[in-house]
Amino acid sequence: MSALIELRGVVKDYPAQHRSAAPTRAVDRVDLTIERGEIFAVIGYSGAGKSTLVRLINALEPVSEGQVVVDGVDVARLGERELRTVRRGIGMVFQQFNLLESRTVWGNLAFPLVVAGVPRAEQQRRISDLLHFVGLADKAHAHVSDLSGGQKQRVGIARALATDPPLLLADEATSALDPDTTREILDLLARVNRELGTTIVLITHEMGAVRRIADRVAVMEHGRVVEVGSARDVFTRPEHPVTRRFVGTVVDLEPAPEALAAIRERHPGRLLRLDVEAAGGQQAVFAALHRHELGFELVHGGIEEVRGHTFGALTLAVTGGDEAVDAVLAELDGTLTEVGR
Ligand SMILES: Nc1ncnc2c1ncn2[C@@H]1O[C@H](COP(=O)(O)OP(=O)(O)O)[C@@H](O)[C@H]1O
Ligand SMILES: [Mg+2]
Repeated sequence: MSALIELRGVVKDYPAQHRSAAPTRAVDRVDLTIERGEIFAVIGYSGAGKSTLVRLINALEPVSEGQVVVDGVDVARLGERELRTVRRGIGMVFQQFNLLESRTVWGNLAFPLVVAGVPRAEQQRRISDLLHFVGLADKAHAHVSDLSGGQKQRVGIARALATDPPLLLADEATSALDPDTTREILDLLARVNRELGTTIVLITHEMGAVRRIADRVAVMEHGRVVEVGSARDVFTRPEHPVTRRFVGTVVDLEPAPEALAAIRERHPGRLLRLDVEAAGGQQAVFAALHRHELGFELVHGGIEEVRGHTFGALTLAVTGGDEAVDAVLAELDGTLTEVGR
């Protein structure tokens, strides 16, 4: 793999809206490398700077500092004409679809092809292929306004792919959709990546979307990338508090403070967290507890799959002597940790 997008020390400031206000630093010294052929997710809460990052990558806006290199070219150095060429190599998918509502599906797909000067016969072939690919062959002459949200997003994806771009930027592409439709659209994006080789940058505030299709993920907060890594590592070993919060929306690793208080009411003994990541880890823990004659009850937990990898955590309320508990903890350092002590 080689880098398709490189961000180096990228800063984006927006001028103050009022004379007394400070300017907004929407993106703050971001360094990122996105490899060719991967699905790279950018996750963060509203206002984190994700959409701004997208507009910098597709060169809709200039950076304030730093470099955005797309396919080996620093976009800041390009003139308007060359920028149009770069943008043509980037498909965009939006939360609100941004389709021409009064036109037919066919009309929406023809639009980018006409703009790109594709000959008419080839337009026909291309549109037909795209409709088959996204599963809307029977909707070619439907008006967009008559389609469901999921169907609209399929059109949005087909349109983004019309000119066969090597890169797709999807900004909250599933955020307006229900959970079932979200999964269908994510699976379609995964198929685009797999079958067409399209690099995908998936902007989202939903960790479920990251879990389902992302290879790697960057977590943004206040314009900064606070954590970046493989989806698997980020899920199993989240480091930054924001990352932990996002992972917690998908799998319930540890009881929240209120739940913990309720558990403590019922279980005055010590609470241990068992990380269900390492193979055989559970067996070693249960064997050690047994050996030290400790009893336990499972009081909290969750186990999930991320891209074929199991992870999660269970909270055990242990009954038995403190010394035995300390011995088990020392033996199983890493797999077993004390909760809130
Ligand atoms: N065109 C703009 N002018 C001024 N401020 C903006 C503009 N676009 C975004 N911002 C500000 O930049 C920050 C990041 O916004 P945005 O990139 O839209 O975040 P996200 O997509 O993660 O929700 C926010 O504080 C937002 O108000
Ligand atoms: Mg946004």
